[in-house]
Amino acid sequence: MDEPKTRVRVPALKEKKLRGEKITVLTAYDCTMAGLMDRAGIDVLLVGDSLGMVVLGHEDTLSVTLDTMVEHTSAVARGARHALVVSDMPFLSYQVDVGEAVRNAGRLIQGGAAAVKIEGGSSVIDVARRLVAIGIPVMGHLGLTPQSVHQLGGFRPQAQTSESADQLLREAKSLEEAGVFSIVLESIPSELAKRVTAELAVPTIGIGAGPHCDGQVLVSYDTFGLFQGSVPPFVKQYAQLGDQILEATRAYIEDVRTGRFPTVEEDQESDRKKSR
Ligand code: KIV
Repeated sequence: MDEPKTRVRVPALKEKKLRGEKITVLTAYDCTMAGLMDRAGIDVLLVGDSLGMVVLGHEDTLSVTLDTMVEHTSAVARGARHALVVSDMPFLSYQVDVGEAVRNAGRLIQGGAAAVKIEGGSSVIDVARRLVAIGIPVMGHLGLTPQSVHQLGGFRPQAQTSESADQLLREAKSLEEAGVFSIVLESIPSELAKRVTAELAVPTIGIGAGPHCDGQVLVSYDTFGLFQGSVPPFVKQYAQLGDQILEATRAYIEDVRTGRFPTVEEDQESDRKKSR
C-alpha cells in the first residue's frame, strides 16, 4: 500500500460517510508511533486520555492533566503528516465553564491538534456549540464515557435498556445540532449504533459498538499487544509487540551479560563512524 500524500481534514470524514467509506482511527501518544501509523495511512490519530492508563499506568483516565495532553498532542502532531490529529479534553478541562473550556481547547489546538473530543451529551452541549462557533472542531463521545467511570459503576456496556437507548439517540442528535463533526460511540449495543449511524448526518466512530458505525477506533496499545493489563473483549489484536519487546530485552540482557555485545569488531566500527 502506498504511503498517503494528502492531509486528512475535518470535512473529509463527512465526505467519507457520504461515499460509504469506513473511517479508520487509532489512538496515539508519541511522535514515533504516530509517524508509523500515519505512514500506514490511518485517517485519524486520537490523542486519547487513555494515555493515563496505557502509558502512565493509572487505573482510569481521571488524573490526566491538560499539560500532559498538550505535551503528547504536540508529540503526535510532529509525527503525523497525513492523519487528522484529534485530542481528548481531559477531565475537568471543559466541565467547569464554557470560557475555561474554550481556553483549554485552544491550548490543545495550539499544541497541534486539529480538533478536540469531549465526553457526554446534554451536559456538554453549550461547550460544544461555543467551541464550534469559534472555529474549533469538536468530536463527541457517548455511551461508555470513561471520565464518568465512578458514576457508571465501572467500565461496563451502556444503553442496555430501550429508555437509555432512546436517551442516547436524543443526545447524539443534540450533539449533531450543536455542530460536532463526528461522535464516538463506546460500548453500546450494535443495533443502537446502527440506528444512531442511520439517523445522523455526521459520522459515528465505534469502539465496542459493532460493525455498523461509519468508522472504528481502538486503543493502539491494546490492538498492538503492548498494554500488559486487561484488554476489553471487543479488541482485535493485530500484533503482540509486548511479547517482542520482552524477547528483545531478554536477548539484549543475555548478550551484555555473556559479552556477545558489543564485540570488539562492533566497537571498532563505532569508533570509525564517530571519527568521520
Ligand atoms: O481516550 C481514548 O482512548 C478514547 C477512545 C477509547 C475513544 O477516548
